[in-house]
This record gives sequence, C-alpha cells and structure tokens, in this order.
Amino acid sequence: MGRVAFVNGQYVPHGMASVHVEDRGYQFADGVYEVIPVIAGKQVDGIGHRERLARSLRELRITPPMTDRALALVIEEVIRRNRVRTGHVYLQVTRGVAPRDHAFPADPESAIVVYANSKPAGGLGKQAEVGVQVITAPDQRWARCDIKTVGLLPNCLAKQSAREAGAHEAFMYDSDGYVTEGSSTNAWIVDSEGRLVTRPVSHDILNGITRLSLISLVEGQGIEVVERAFTVEELKGAREVFLTSASALATPVVQVDDRVIGNGRPGSVTSRLVEIFRTYVASEQVDAAAGKTI
Ligand code: PDD
Repeated sequence: MGRVAFVNGQYVPHGMASVHVEDRGYQFADGVYEVIPVIAGKQVDGIGHRERLARSLRELRITPPMTDRALALVIEEVIRRNRVRTGHVYLQVTRGVAPRDHAFPADPESAIVVYANSKPAGGLGKQAEVGVQVITAPDQRWARCDIKTVGLLPNCLAKQSAREAGAHEAFMYDSDGYVTEGSSTNAWIVDSEGRLVTRPVSHDILNGITRLSLISLVEGQGIEVVERAFTVEELKGAREVFLTSASALATPVVQVDDRVIGNGRPGSVTSRLVEIFRTYVASEQVDAAAGKTI
C-alpha cells in the first residue's frame, strides 16, 4: 500500500494530493501548520501540537476546519494508513480557496491537508550521539513569530545558509545581538551553573512544544530552567548548547560558527536531556500526551 494523504475530507494517494492554485496558502502564505513526531508508532505531544494549531488559527482568524476530536481521528488514521513507525505527521490549514484579493474572502472555507512521512528520528539517533554544528544569522522574520504560519521564507534562507556552510541549523539573532531561535528549532544554552537557558516566550519566537515538554520533564530532576534572552557571544562561550524541535527532540550542538563548544562532543547535561526524552517517548506518559481518541 502506498502513501496516503488527507486533503479536504478525502484520503487520496500521496502522488495525487494537490491543492487549488487559488488556495490562499499558496497565494499569500495565509495558513498555519504543525509537525507532530511519531516514534515507535506513537505520536509525541499530539495534544500540545493540536492546541498550538488552534491558537495559530485563532490569532489569524481562520476558522478551524473540523473539531479537535475529528482532527485527532484524522491524524491517527493518517499514521495508520501510512504505517508510520518513526516519522512525522504534517498538517496544514489555510484560509481556503478564493479569487485573489489580499483582504479575507467574505465566506471562507478553510482548507486542510494532513500527511505523513517515515524517516529516522533525528533526536534519538546519530545526531544525539555526535552533535551538530550551527551557524548564526540575522533574524529577518516578521513581528509575530509566535504564530506557526507557512510563511517560512526567512527561515528557509537561514537554513540554506547553514547548509551551504556545512552546518545543520542557523540560530538567528535580533537587532540587539540576542539569539531568538533556530530556523526550525528553539535555541538553548547550558550556563556555567548547569542551568538550561532559553529565550522567554513572546512574539519573537515560536513556543516550541518540545521546549514546553522539556521544561516540564526536567521539573523535579534537579535541572533548573531559566527563561531569559542570551547574546550570540554568550552562546559561543556557553558550557553546552543544544536545540529542541519535534524532530530533533534535544540535539546537542558542538560548534557555533567557527567556535567549538566544550570539547567538541555532546556535554553531560545535554546527554542527560537526550536520555530524559528517550525515557519519555518509551513511557505511558507519551500516550497521555498524544490525546488518542481510542
Ligand atoms: N519546526 N522554532 C521554529 C521557528 C520552528 O519552526 C519550530 C518547529 C520550533 C520548534 O517547535 P516544536 O518543538 O513544536 O517542533 C521552533 C518544525 C519541526 C518544522 O517546521 O519542521
């Protein structure tokens, strides 16, 4: 059986899945998305991702295409039909199809696409063992980075710069020299006291679901989290650096631009975080956070 995508109420072969040329997601990036990791056949943090999707839709006044329960069912069905063991579910909702006009259509009908891919988990694989390199790049995005919109061009440009430099990710910085986040990840450092430091939530960053998971998972484990902004300079001099995202979970960063972090190998704190995630995804806690309907 080949891959199957859910497009506006129907399950269709992946190769035939398409949207209209006047879909506002295509025309104006007038849409939002989520990426949900699947590990060992289980969704990781499904509830959190659906909640954030609902928030993004509210912020942009896009009508949810279906109830949360119906969406949860579609996600499960897409995982099942595509026999995903390890991979991702991608979902995208746009304001729908309408004759081209910047202003909202009078009677919009939201469009939805849900599909899945199977690929090895970045977060618990080789990258977790050896770490990755990042570069730094100016943050060229708009003023509402807290909304997970499909308008990702500045993120794509930053990621491309990283690739061209032989790095895995670009950590972006604001006009004051403070790190905002990665092009598709949240940025973290471990300070000299062993505390985890990450930028506080605001319109400047996406409030990562993995970021939130990590904050709650380390509670009671003797690891302190400090939410404050840090500069590029502090990043480069940090004891450890790591990034979080749905696909990366907690991935160690061993080099920033031309500066090697620590001894160039994943540090002990980050390695512990990788283990905390490994335990989490293998536990029953992960089922509760998936919000499965059955
Ligand atoms: N990216 N910041 C940005 C700009 C992101 O695009 C992402 C997610 C994150 C991390 O959020 P989360 O932990 O919820 O995945 C932070 C996804 C994975 C993507 O675009 O592929």
